[in-house]
Amino acid sequence: MWDFNFAPGTPKPVLYDDLRSALDALTAGEDDAVANMANAAALIWEALPELNWAGFYRVVGDGLVLGPFNGRPACIRIARGKGVCGAALATGKTQLVPDVHAFPGHIACDAASASELVVPIFGADGAMVAVLDLDSPVAGRFDVDDAAGCEALAALLGPRIS
Ligand code: SME
Repeated sequence: MWDFNFAPGTPKPVLYDDLRSALDALTAGEDDAVANMANAAALIWEALPELNWAGFYRVVGDGLVLGPFNGRPACIRIARGKGVCGAALATGKTQLVPDVHAFPGHIACDAASASELVVPIFGADGAMVAVLDLDSPVAGRFDVDDAAGCEALAALLGPRIS
């Protein structure tokens, strides 16, 4: 069991280090991609404050298809280059979006979303297998520490979902 009752003001690197350790323990020795993404989404949802969506889109063909998540039902398919997730697929780069309304082509699955962080996930062979998508109702919720923390989670998870 993992408990993420961090005091307000806990430095994000500390929080993400603990989150990474928990994710490591939770997915070690398990090679089922759906199970690992499902537990990762639940863990992130519980650990990080001010989220309204946390989950995965999987690379299928030339686009993205909805994977395990926590939050409201979401759009199922996202084409390469479309929205924040499609931009992550097209570029292979983390997308840190402080104001989704200012992002050209943002796909609004939930009108409450104000900011977003999308991190590409690469498998053992180096190919992109999924993206981790976090949404928040708070503008500017995500910063470079969140991006670095989530990239570390993605690096751990990639070989375990591919
Ligand atoms: N906002 C995303 C779509 C996915 S939902 O946030 C769950 C985008 O623009 O790609």
